[in-house]
Amino acid sequence: MSARPAQSTSATATFVVVANRLPVDRVENPDGTADWRPSPGGLVTAFEPVMRSREGAWVGWHGAPDEELAPFTNDGIKLVPVTLSSHEVADYYEGFSNATLWPLYHDVIATPEFHREWWDAYVMVNQRFADQTAQVAGPGAVVWVQDYQLQLVPQMLRQLRPDLRIGFFLHIPFPPTELYQQLPWRNQILEGLLGADLVGFQLVGGAQNFVRLVRQRLQLETHRDRVRTTDGRTVVARAYPIAIDAKGLHDLAASPEAAERAADIRRDLGDPRLLFLGVDRLDYTKGLLERIRAFGELVDEGKIDPDEAVLVQLAIPSRERVDLYRQLRDEVDRLVGRINGDLGRIGRSFVTYLHTSYPREEMAALYRAADIMVVTPMRDGMNLVAKEYVACRQADDGALVLSEFAGAARELRQAYLVNPHDINGMKDKLIEAMEDSPRAKARRMRVMRRQVFEHDIDRWASTFLEDLQGVQPT
Ligand code: ADP
Ligand code: F6P
Repeated sequence: MSARPAQSTSATATFVVVANRLPVDRVENPDGTADWRPSPGGLVTAFEPVMRSREGAWVGWHGAPDEELAPFTNDGIKLVPVTLSSHEVADYYEGFSNATLWPLYHDVIATPEFHREWWDAYVMVNQRFADQTAQVAGPGAVVWVQDYQLQLVPQMLRQLRPDLRIGFFLHIPFPPTELYQQLPWRNQILEGLLGADLVGFQLVGGAQNFVRLVRQRLQLETHRDRVRTTDGRTVVARAYPIAIDAKGLHDLAASPEAAERAADIRRDLGDPRLLFLGVDRLDYTKGLLERIRAFGELVDEGKIDPDEAVLVQLAIPSRERVDLYRQLRDEVDRLVGRINGDLGRIGRSFVTYLHTSYPREEMAALYRAADIMVVTPMRDGMNLVAKEYVACRQADDGALVLSEFAGAARELRQAYLVNPHDINGMKDKLIEAMEDSPRAKARRMRVMRRQVFEHDIDRWASTFLEDLQGVQPT
């Protein structure tokens, strides 16, 4: 993607999405010129089609620190960039969002760090997002705030613009109440979210944890999924498991180009009988090390023949300046190197590890080419990759090995479900997925395909937005 001049788009919008990131990231080339590339992660994957089918504006950070940009239109979507200083990127984004909230909300898989200056930056940046959104939203507009980076925005925005209809959706898990209580600013975040009319979670359990917490911690009156606020409003908290543009992706994978590319990929890999695929942001919640270790052991034990099978692992670079992410990258590099060193032969590696981002067309071809998709997060709000693999099937073939701890496991019950903490159990399931008959696999895949196509992103967004309109605020 090339650098484009910013166009001014000053009119207000009746529908506004607010997310930490815009769908495109501004990056600097080595020669000093600027470029745009798609932003990483499930939120952007999910919201691009939502915005494309609805007129609206997207308020978010453009990924480059200290750079002020005017609003512009990209691929038909009006984008409103929010500026963050380098200091704020360190404290609000890498710090409070990704070294405090991210591990805390993912079952404290890593230890969350609590620093008061990170919290101060989080408050300041949330206020900036709220201020900027208040300028963009037209009278009575619908504003949909996204994810853990912006949990204070609903309340801040309501104070500025009581005329707005405000929704909030959390893309990651909402933690068990016992873990949430560790947060020194636990009440402020609950109050921040209560500025919305409708607060959406991936799973029913998350919504229930939230309602329980506002009852216990803020002593508010609650009834099922409803909360009565001190200013007399009603806030609804409900589950909306997020989805994908299943048809769009399926059609991409169905194209002759994707078929040809899928065949090329298999040929380049030496025409293996079995192609295992892993696709993740390089994140410690995704269970990459456990998965690769399980494969290494299966090959060592002679249960997978490296002459017949390969593992392709894509890892999109993520949060590279946060310590734990740097460490993970080194550990994955080392583990893949060791396994390939032990098991490889000239011209052939068992693990093909690619630490880069690919265009959607390439992703669709890879999903199409894969015999067994392996998705093993230790904890994940939803995991869109699992749904993307299912959507790309052209028949009831293939197999999905899926962690019980991904939100997607609630809907894709027919996957080969695994506990990624249990390496032996995971190995057994991988073997089962390899050895099951095509008939048994087809039975599983048929049900999962129906689920993914019937519950697509358009239905998800429409349901949320209809419910948001339906909440009676008082
Ligand atoms: P998260 O939101 O935590 O990143 P998801 O699984 O929900 O996890 O979403 C990840 C998204 O990123 C998916 O849409 C997937 O296709 C995309 N993705 C993952 N790895 C790559 C890659 N190497 N290149 C391009 N897209 C990728
Ligand atoms: O919900 C997961 C999420 O944090 C999204 O908010 C984001 O799109 C994605 O992961 C990628 O993370 P980051 O924006 O930190 O690169």
